[in-house]
Amino acid sequence: MFTDLVLASAHHVLVFGLAAIIAMEAVIVRPDMSGGSGRLLSRIDAYYGAAATLVLLIGIARVLFGLKGWEAYVYNWAFWLKMLAFAVVGLLSIRPTMQIRKWRKNADEDTFTPLAEDVAKVRGYILAQIGVFTLIPVLAATMARYGY
Ligand code: HEM
Repeated sequence: MFTDLVLASAHHVLVFGLAAIIAMEAVIVRPDMSGGSGRLLSRIDAYYGAAATLVLLIGIARVLFGLKGWEAYVYNWAFWLKMLAFAVVGLLSIRPTMQIRKWRKNADEDTFTPLAEDVAKVRGYILAQIGVFTLIPVLAATMARYGY
């Protein structure tokens, strides 16, 4: 019971953290982004990677060591839809991360100005991540109650 409580608490804190990180990226990526914003964005994107990895590891630990037992999830369609949504968010974050790395390389130059089309593309990917991410808590609540 205590292990389940610790894992569930960590899961929720990390998931809220991940939501905050994606929201921060959406706010920072703008056409008038400065070099300082480019550096900040690069740090936030590193936190994104770390938080997503921890969500994955704690999530797997919940499946293996949670109260219901792994069978409750492995045969649960809502669980697999949630995993699919999580994977899609991960895939949608690849292009932004590549662009953020490019911006970071130029962020120290005085003339740093991101191209409007790159900003628009990255914003599109970030908004798509927010859209798919929003489905995950719904699928989580479903998998905890139905689906098996
Ligand atoms: C690979 C990633 C993940 C795994 C393996 C995973 C696994 C789990 C497990 C095993 C539970 C316990 C469900 C139960 O009580 O039966 C859970 C609950 C939950 N997860 Fe995840 N999770 C992952 C990612 C996420 C993400 C990214 C979010 C949010 C965007 C999320 C939101 C939730 C919520 C809100 C609950 C509580 C559901 C409820 O009790 O109503 N999870 N997750």
